Amino acid sequence: MSPTPSDLDAPVREFNHHSDPAVRVDPFTAFDRFRDERVFWTPELDGFWVLTRHADIRAVLRDTDAFSSRHTSIPPAGWPRPLMPVELDPPDHGAYRVLLARCLNGRAGAALAKAVEDACARLVAGLAPAGRCDLVLDFARPLQNALFAALFDVPEEETQACARWAADLLQDARPADRAGAVKEFMSYVERAISEYLDGTRRGEGSGLLEFLSRAEVDGRPLSRQESLDLAFLMGMASLDTLTNSVSFSFRYLAAHPEHQQRLAAEPGIAAGAAEELLRLHSVVSIARTAKRDTEVAGVRMRAGERVLLSLALAGRDPNHYADPAAADFDRANAASHVAFGFGAHRCLGARIATQGLTAALREWHAAIRDYSVPPGTELVTDGGAVCSLENLPLTWQV
Ligand code: HEM
Repeated sequence: MSPTPSDLDAPVREFNHHSDPAVRVDPFTAFDRFRDERVFWTPELDGFWVLTRHADIRAVLRDTDAFSSRHTSIPPAGWPRPLMPVELDPPDHGAYRVLLARCLNGRAGAALAKAVEDACARLVAGLAPAGRCDLVLDFARPLQNALFAALFDVPEEETQACARWAADLLQDARPADRAGAVKEFMSYVERAISEYLDGTRRGEGSGLLEFLSRAEVDGRPLSRQESLDLAFLMGMASLDTLTNSVSFSFRYLAAHPEHQQRLAAEPGIAAGAAEELLRLHSVVSIARTAKRDTEVAGVRMRAGERVLLSLALAGRDPNHYADPAAADFDRANAASHVAFGFGAHRCLGARIATQGLTAALREWHAAIRDYSVPPGTELVTDGGAVCSLENLPLTWQV
């Protein structure tokens, strides 16, 4: 990797999505200062390109001939093999994607959606009479953990440790910490799969780990390594993303009572509101690597150069969305957001995650009104591969 771009005419800017001080204030507006640049190069983290427009970001995500998914984060995740299926390119990618889709669609998907809806109702019923909570700790994380527990069919108490490792891996740019988190999470997954295989752990037959232990790909059984890698990716993909999407959505709603009132009065708009809130809080940044010399957004990229695709920048592109920093539950093109990526690798959990946020909005606003963040509260946010919110204290009248 070179800290200087191949295209010497390209603008060069200081940009680090992990450590820029502005991400601590707000990871979504942090990079608005680059809005006027369609593309630029940053020398940070060994140098990479940054695209800012919805159309250009989609074009790169669509172009699997010119761009590889081998490393989907900057810096790379520190895992010796590609994360399957997200870091595999076609044609290797397809068979694994089809396999995992079976755990998330049809009856399996409906069971997961129900687990998440039940968790929303249970959590809200417990919180509403209290008049206060920390939405991140008391609602968003337990909700994500309920999804993980249903997906993996493991006891809910084991999911706390997994969530901690996922946060270290996804948000900590220091290689030693990332490697440690990978190792601990993998040993957890390996232990759980072995227990399923030797019968010391029993499920209801619907869990991902049990499914993988007997799954086939290309007409042969999955190897142990493949099962581990797929389970690992599903854990990583499902643990942190929903928590932060829900948390940031409620942070916005807490500051906008008019939207709270509308969600309470018109529960039928929850699904559309979820899409719009996902657009406004697209928490993931992903990376691609040029496979060959190519031209994007008017600059020449050389084979091997990396490009960061901040889906938050895409979701707030004023060339694609009118008044992009405001939520508009009637926005005609809200569903064109790329919070779940686009093209061959579009998120396999998109439907379940959207249903989860929809259920959260519906259940919460049926029981809790006029909530806000107590004055003077400092909210702690962070950037990186997944933008995160650490705390969201809320109070309301009971
Ligand atoms: C709001 C929550 C979520 C967000 C914002 C999100 C976002 C994303 C994004 C942006 C990608 C594309 C990565 C790339 O192109 O490099 C992706 C892929 C993926 N996601 Fe999600 N995700 C969420 C929830 C979930 C959940 C709940 C699951 C599983 C139950 C899941 C499973 C996956 C899988 C398996 C892939 C890889 C698909 C492939 O490579 O073909 N995600 N996700």
